[in-house]
Amino acid sequence: MTDTAPAASASTSVSAPPTGDPAGPSVFVRVDFPAPAAFGRGEADPGVALVTIDRPAALNALNAAILADLAAAFVRLDADPTCRAIVLTGAGGRAFAAGADIKAMASAGPDTIEAVGGFGHWQTLAAVGLPVVAAVRGFALGGGCELALLCDIVIAGDDATLGQPEIKLGVIPGAGGTQRLTRAIGKARAMELVLTGRSIDAREAERLGLVSQVVPAEETLDRALELAGRIAVLPPLAVRAAKAAVNAALELPLADGLAFERRTFFDLFATADQKEGMAAFAEKRPAHWTGR
Ligand code: CAA
Repeated sequence: MTDTAPAASASTSVSAPPTGDPAGPSVFVRVDFPAPAAFGRGEADPGVALVTIDRPAALNALNAAILADLAAAFVRLDADPTCRAIVLTGAGGRAFAAGADIKAMASAGPDTIEAVGGFGHWQTLAAVGLPVVAAVRGFALGGGCELALLCDIVIAGDDATLGQPEIKLGVIPGAGGTQRLTRAIGKARAMELVLTGRSIDAREAERLGLVSQVVPAEETLDRALELAGRIAVLPPLAVRAAKAAVNAALELPLADGLAFERRTFFDLFATADQKEGMAAFAEKRPAHWTGR
């Protein structure tokens, strides 16, 4: 594998740079739409976008420009009705992302670190309504682990190394690590990882519940695309609603979360896709989703 090519065996039908960067096409973030053949069934294009962090020489370390471009790409894809799911990966095979850019942050002060590190973009990334699958190979450390945690599903190659090593730099995770990791794996385990900075391999991450599947390293991207493709052909309003409802479980007290779920469930009965899905079941035929 080259440093600049995504690991996908997928050919790409369209390549479109993020448009949110006023300076022009992104140097470090690529957005491709893998051709239908990439999904292994020869069916219609499921509308999966592949977003690649492409800075392999620095193990895809996340600087403010990359985070701005990632956020712009996510916002644009979220508003694109033909896009039904996102796969996020890192170029080069050695890293998903080795964290925030330490060299860029090193001389920052408390008043400048937010802008220097591009920390405002993390909320934008978390707010995307489309399902996001992380395809993690190699290092996902610090901000890279936090980026994976922000995704909805993590597929890890068996070469993946995850962790929050910030304590060894004299800081703590600053992009959600103490919060999302704790919710994902529980307080005792999160404490151990955050307080020691110990990295874990893919199998341990799977056992702890940080990743949902471990796959052979070379297959990571294909398996993530395949999974995203399976989600992408499902009714998009229900998919977005399901993501929002599961995420509500991380944010709300149980009673409020249950109320949110019930309201969201009821709201879906206003959609054409609910009528179609239930009619198709009764008529014993495949459903045809319109996203309305
Ligand atoms: N920031 C900036 N540059 C980085 C980087 C990072 N987080 N991680 C790796 N790089 C750069 C290295 O400086 C090196 O560049 P040069 O060739 O110009 O020297 C290049 O990527 C390759 O890295 P290494 O030579 O170090 O590769 P390695 O295989 O020997 O080690 C590694 C790999 C163990 C991942 C090591 O690079 C490492 O420890 N990286 C830092 C990991 C880390 O601490 N991440 C947390 C950052 S802080 C953070 O993320 C805060 C937050 O919560 C948002």
